[in-house]
Amino acid sequence: MAYRNTTIYFMSGTGNSYRVATWMGEIAEKNGSNTDVFSAKNKKPAKEIKNGNDNLIGIVFPAHGFTMPWHILKFVWRLPRRKSTHAFCVAARGSLKFGSVFIPGMSGSGTFIVALILKLKGYNVRGLMSVDMPSNWFSLHPIQRAKSHDAIIARAHHKVKSFIERIFLNGNVWFTLNNLYEITGGILLSLISIGYLFFGRFFLAKLFFANNNCNGCGVCTENCSFRAIKMWGKKNPKPFWKYSCESCMRCSALCPQNAIEAGQSWGVILYFITAIPVSFYIFSALNVTIPGMANLKGSWIRTVLDILYYYPAIFIPYYMFHFLIRIPVINWIFAHTTMTHYYFWGRYREPNTKLTHIDEKKK
Ligand SMILES: Cc1cc2nc3c(=O)[nH]c(=O)nc-3n(C[C@H](O)[C@H](O)[C@H](O)COP(=O)(O)O)c2cc1C
Ligand code: SF4
Ligand code: SF4
Repeated sequence: MAYRNTTIYFMSGTGNSYRVATWMGEIAEKNGSNTDVFSAKNKKPAKEIKNGNDNLIGIVFPAHGFTMPWHILKFVWRLPRRKSTHAFCVAARGSLKFGSVFIPGMSGSGTFIVALILKLKGYNVRGLMSVDMPSNWFSLHPIQRAKSHDAIIARAHHKVKSFIERIFLNGNVWFTLNNLYEITGGILLSLISIGYLFFGRFFLAKLFFANNNCNGCGVCTENCSFRAIKMWGKKNPKPFWKYSCESCMRCSALCPQNAIEAGQSWGVILYFITAIPVSFYIFSALNVTIPGMANLKGSWIRTVLDILYYYPAIFIPYYMFHFLIRIPVINWIFAHTTMTHYYFWGRYREPNTKLTHIDEKKK
């Protein structure tokens, strides 16, 4: 199909989704389409999307929590309604390689939810795909060596090329084994995805801290698409991670001092604080004084109370933690009880992508 215009929107923390988007942009241009590749960071997206089936848009994003990142959900939700404009969506998963074995990631419900929203907005969704790129999730596992990354990226390039070429040949890319794998995983893991979107991502954001090597340069805060880092302290500014953090890992990959840790020992403490069954204690206490309240045990009110407790329970201790780790010896203890501190653990960024350019409008 000859598309007059192709517009690809991407969200990318460490460059994988950006790379996928630019590969697609190159093929679209080769097919004679006016092509733009934009960062999806802007809150008001897409005046440039035109009606009609000679226009194609693509949404490319990393898999987070077996679904799409919250920011992409908001972005797609705010896209304008269109009549018969063609669309596709692609998730960059996190893959590992052991010897000659490639371990696939899983984007779960991500591409399907994005495709559904696009469909409801009047777009003609031509296809969806998830593609394995190197995993950047350094709070979970050590980052692999460059050789493994190169092999994973080479395979991904091939896959992305054939996907977009099929779209340009007027094909549909819906019924693939890969999509079957994803929808099955997406359904089975849907509770984890909901938990990730409403709770987990805030918890992950509050694991970040800067170790004693941080010199307050501000590179992390300048390059965060979501303005999720605030430099606190006049004399000795240190980064403080806000709730708006999407855990995209860019700041940690970019820090010139390699100072950003995903505090695992701190995470254990934070987990125990958030897991305190506050509603149980409140109702036990109320039971003593208010007869009949026992019936409320196990009710939805308890669930609501526990949820209400969760958000301040991560924010307030993190706030205190942020001040405590200004004391070098405390910072040293938390850094040295975190695996991400050790050299072998590593940080990931897509080897051919300049992270400072990820957010710029690209042709
Ligand atoms: C917080 C977080 C959650 C992630 N969740 C998943 C996941 O559920 N499935 C998966 O395959 N990869 C997951 N990953 C790995 C990334 O999606 C993957 O490395 C992706 O290619 C990164 O793309 P980017 O460089 O464009 O941000 C996760 C990474 C992070 C940081
Ligand atoms: S980029 Fe690194 S050194 Fe610079 S302020 Fe951020 S954490 Fe500190
Ligand atoms: S603070 Fe760091 S991890 Fe969070 S969204 Fe910004 S760059 Fe990404």
